[in-house]
Amino acid sequence: MIKLISHKEKQKVDVTVWVVSTLSDLPEKSHSYVQKYFKKEKNTVLSLSFLEEPVIAVLLLEEPSNDDQWCEKIRLAGHELLSVLNYEEFETVRLCSFKDNWHSKALLEGMLLSDYNFGKYKTKEELVASNLVIYTTLPDEEFLELQRLMDSVSITRNLVNEPVSALNTTQFSEEIVNLGNRYGFEVQVLGKEQIKELKMGGLLGVNAGSEVPPAFNILTWRPENAVNDQPYVFVGKGVVYDTGGYNVKPGSFMDTMKSDMAGGATVVGLFCAIAQNKLPVYAIGLVPSTDNRISPTAIVSDDILTMMNGLTVEVKNTDAEGRLILADALVYAQRFSPKLVIDLATLTGAAARVTGHYGAAMMGNANEGSKKSLMLAGEQVYERLVEFPFWDEFYEDLKSPIADLKNLGNPEGGASSAGKFLEKFTDYPWIHLDIAGPAFISSSYKYYKPGATGFGVRLLYKFLKDRTV
Ligand code: BES
Ligand code: ZN
Ligand code: ZN
Repeated sequence: MIKLISHKEKQKVDVTVWVVSTLSDLPEKSHSYVQKYFKKEKNTVLSLSFLEEPVIAVLLLEEPSNDDQWCEKIRLAGHELLSVLNYEEFETVRLCSFKDNWHSKALLEGMLLSDYNFGKYKTKEELVASNLVIYTTLPDEEFLELQRLMDSVSITRNLVNEPVSALNTTQFSEEIVNLGNRYGFEVQVLGKEQIKELKMGGLLGVNAGSEVPPAFNILTWRPENAVNDQPYVFVGKGVVYDTGGYNVKPGSFMDTMKSDMAGGATVVGLFCAIAQNKLPVYAIGLVPSTDNRISPTAIVSDDILTMMNGLTVEVKNTDAEGRLILADALVYAQRFSPKLVIDLATLTGAAARVTGHYGAAMMGNANEGSKKSLMLAGEQVYERLVEFPFWDEFYEDLKSPIADLKNLGNPEGGASSAGKFLEKFTDYPWIHLDIAGPAFISSSYKYYKPGATGFGVRLLYKFLKDRTV
């Protein structure tokens, strides 16, 4: 774990890192020192020069195409820097920046994201966790905020990486309650009886084959100084395991489906971040949760479910379960008369096939301004969004001869028809994020190790924070 400390706490350090954009920004004397590491990729130069005493490391970055791209390059440099510091077994670092604080922040962000390990099931310690202490010139409030945000991203990644045998629906709720107690947001967990009373037919239907009861988790953060009266509501898909149900996932398609609660885990991580940093916003989180399994009591194709708002849905594929549980959560959100609802879900392979793990699909009926702000935040934190078609014609794909809707659209445009399905359960400004592509990766990518990325926590934190200033 990396620990950030103010540079004012004077200490002798193993190494000093300068962050500069051009060579001329460096202290005069350092120019002539021999470079031990030199790495040149497209626009990034990372070089470390060792002086006698104290050791000085130098980080150089060339001029980028635009600020967001540049920021991302600095994050990547942070990732590389961390591997060099770990390799050299440095334990204390002083980080100096000549330019704006945001250079240092992006560098630290890359280092902290890169420092994450899910090592709890390794019996022999293979991945040496860094014990790095970094002295930073950032103001206390800024580096503390960053550290808390990054801790929250790690919380999301831990929840997603945990297999269902260790994190079933009930255990997921227990974790949410614990986090609420620790960080000061309120948590209410509705159990099966209350879910029945609410007539959440979608959540009950998906849960019908399970030995573990469903849960509907409600998170509330409402500080006295909140800038909004109508809440922002965040809905996260919390399918703790998706076998596909009777439309069982064949071959290796079931692999990684422990990550099907990534949307829910992102909502939880977001609340950890906003509560720790005491953001003055009123926000509600809704996480419907269940596994999707096979048993004699499980739903089958042709079954008809009555959702919380009374709409009937003909099940045409038990693997399209996400929209069934989200629909009830979206109906529940109506009672808050929300300013804006954003849902996050690992909803369709169709979205992943378009975005890869490089970004997420966005749809919805919120005004252009909200969508633009969210996309802008996405560019800035580099959790990027791309808008998908949201034409009413996609409803044609969801027509059922005997019920109001069916839960299966065409394979073509499958991400959009899933979005259109959800729209039927909204009556407020709403944005849908399909994070099936970026939530979970099978090999290392940038500052991410294989597994959960925590996609969406930094995005939504930035989006909300921008609304408070
Ligand atoms: N959880 C999956 C979507 C998914 C696929 C997430 C790959 C992450 C990686 C979802 O519940 C699902 O199975 N969707 C089906 C929908 C189809 C049956 C309409 C899909 O995408 O194939
Ligand atoms: Zn599924
Ligand atoms: Zn699913």
